[in-house]
Amino acid sequence: MAVGVFDSGLGGLTVLAAARRRLPATSFVYLGDNAHAPFGVRDPDDIYQLTRRGVQALWDQGCDLVILACNTASAVALRRLQEAGLPSGKRVLGVFVPLIETLTGRGWGDTSPPTMAAGLQVALFATPATVSSRAFPRELAYRALGIDVESQACVGLVDAIEAGDHAEAEALVVAHVAQLQTKMPSPDAAVLGCTHYPLVENAFREALGPSVRVISQPEVVAASLADYLERHPAFNDTDAAQRFLTTGDVSSVSVQAQTFLGEPIRFEPCVT
Ligand code: DGL
Repeated sequence: MAVGVFDSGLGGLTVLAAARRRLPATSFVYLGDNAHAPFGVRDPDDIYQLTRRGVQALWDQGCDLVILACNTASAVALRRLQEAGLPSGKRVLGVFVPLIETLTGRGWGDTSPPTMAAGLQVALFATPATVSSRAFPRELAYRALGIDVESQACVGLVDAIEAGDHAEAEALVVAHVAQLQTKMPSPDAAVLGCTHYPLVENAFREALGPSVRVISQPEVVAASLADYLERHPAFNDTDAAQRFLTTGDVSSVSVQAQTFLGEPIRFEPCVT
């Protein structure tokens, strides 16, 4: 069966593109919940219900493994989905843990006690819902102790990116980095904790300066997915088929998607 990739809208395409480069034979079904995006300004219960419906739609398409290629859904809904119990044979993975494993230098899926990383200063840039969930420091504390995290809710940035307004998006990056630096003047590392942000990664790098290690998600998640599929080959259907589904308007979403993947994509309608 194909691997399902769920996002609130188009941001998850940055993760999908990296996954396709890494796993060119793997089949994927992408679902963007464009009708309900952005998720990052919604309340937690709303995000949970939308994520649950999106995951169910991908299971209905035959995807036994679903990646939540959306930090907001991963931060707010993943734990609750898993605690509610997944149907037998189904798996849902998020995009937060691979980021943290990279940041802390741990192996994929390492469940050993937390390592000591005292003194490391980390800046998290994410949506308001991801920041308020506090999922990043929580998941980090399971894996490493002594890391100082400052979070910046990047209000408006997803909307500017979705609208293709690069000037506005870059101005917002500069403003959010400046605001973060009032709380943490010299971070060692910055985590771009939103699947839209790779599209403005250069603006983040420029605003943060060369001394800050910027951890961008798509390649990290793709590497962790490749490792997972190697350990669980039953989830890896290798006929290289790709399908793109959206709850939004098929033609406008298909046009916007080209900005994200740099190639024409034809979306099909989906109701969740
Ligand atoms: N793609 C989502 C994420 O990674 C953000 C977009 C939204 O707010 O819906 O957090």
